[in-house]
Amino acid sequence: MKIVKTIDEVRKIVREWRKQGLSVGLVPTMGYLHEGHASLIEASARNNDRTVVSDFVNPMQFGPAEDLESYPRDLDLDAAVVSAHGGDIIFNPEPSEMYHEGFSSFVDMTVLTEELCGLSRPVHFRGVCTVVSKLFNIVKPDRAYFGKKDAQQLAVIRHMADDLNMDIEIIGCPIIREKDGLAKSSRNTYLSDTERKAALVLSESVFLGMDMVRKGEKDSSVIISAMTAHIQAEPLAKIDYVKIVDCKSMQQITRLDRPALCAMAVYIGKTRLIDNFFTEDV
Ligand code: PAF
Repeated sequence: MKIVKTIDEVRKIVREWRKQGLSVGLVPTMGYLHEGHASLIEASARNNDRTVVSDFVNPMQFGPAEDLESYPRDLDLDAAVVSAHGGDIIFNPEPSEMYHEGFSSFVDMTVLTEELCGLSRPVHFRGVCTVVSKLFNIVKPDRAYFGKKDAQQLAVIRHMADDLNMDIEIIGCPIIREKDGLAKSSRNTYLSDTERKAALVLSESVFLGMDMVRKGEKDSSVIISAMTAHIQAEPLAKIDYVKIVDCKSMQQITRLDRPALCAMAVYIGKTRLIDNFFTEDV
C-alpha cells in the first residue's frame, strides 16, 4: 500500500494498471477512517482489481462557521485501515495540489441540493460536486463507492454523474453502526462521554421511524412527529431537520406512496450528526 501526494503520480500508477487491463475502484474520503469507510474499501476491493482511497479534507465543502480546522486527521491510522481492507493506494494531496492558485471552475447543481443538508450548509454540495468531479477526472475509476449515511450526497453524485456523462458506476453502501446503533462517523470523535450517550437519540429515532413504516404507517407527519418527540426528550439534542423526502427528487412528501428517504441532522452539543433510513430498506 502506497501513499501518493500528487495528481501526476496517481495518474501514472493508474495508467500502468490500465495497461495491464486492471479495473479500478475509487473510495473518496476525508480520512480519519472508520469501519464505515472500511466497508466501502472492502466493497471496492471485492469488485475491482485495484482500489484507490482518496484522503482529502476538502476545504471547499465547509462553510465559514464549520469544522474545517478541527476536522480529525490521522494519516497513519488511515494507512493501516486501507491496507487492512484491501486498498492499494491512498491519494492524500495538499489543498494546494487540488486547488492551484487562480482555481475558478466549479460543479454546481440546481436540483436535489435545496432541501435537507443543503438548507443549512449552502456551499456544501458545490464543494462536494467539484472535488468529486476532480477525483473522478484524476483517477478515472470504473466504480466509485459512497456511504448511504450521506444519502443526499449519494443522490447528488449519482445525478451529477448522469448529467455530465461520467462513465463511472456509482455504488451506495449500507450505513455501518456501532453496537449500540450510533451511525459510524469521523465526527463521533468530537463527542464527550455524556454527548456520546445522548447521540443515541438519532439511531433510536431512526429505528422508531423504521418500525412505524414496517407496521404500515403512510403519513409522513405522524412518523416525523414521533421521531422528533423522541429526539426532543434529550436535553443535549437540537434538531436541524427531520424530514421525509422523495428518494429521487429530494423534495418533501406528505405520504409514503413512493420510495422515500427519512433523514435527519441533529446537533449534540456543538457536533452536527446525520442519520437516515430508506423506506425501501425497511
Ligand atoms: O463523504 C465525504 O467524506 C466527502 O463529502 C467526500 C465525498 C469525500 C468529498 O469530499
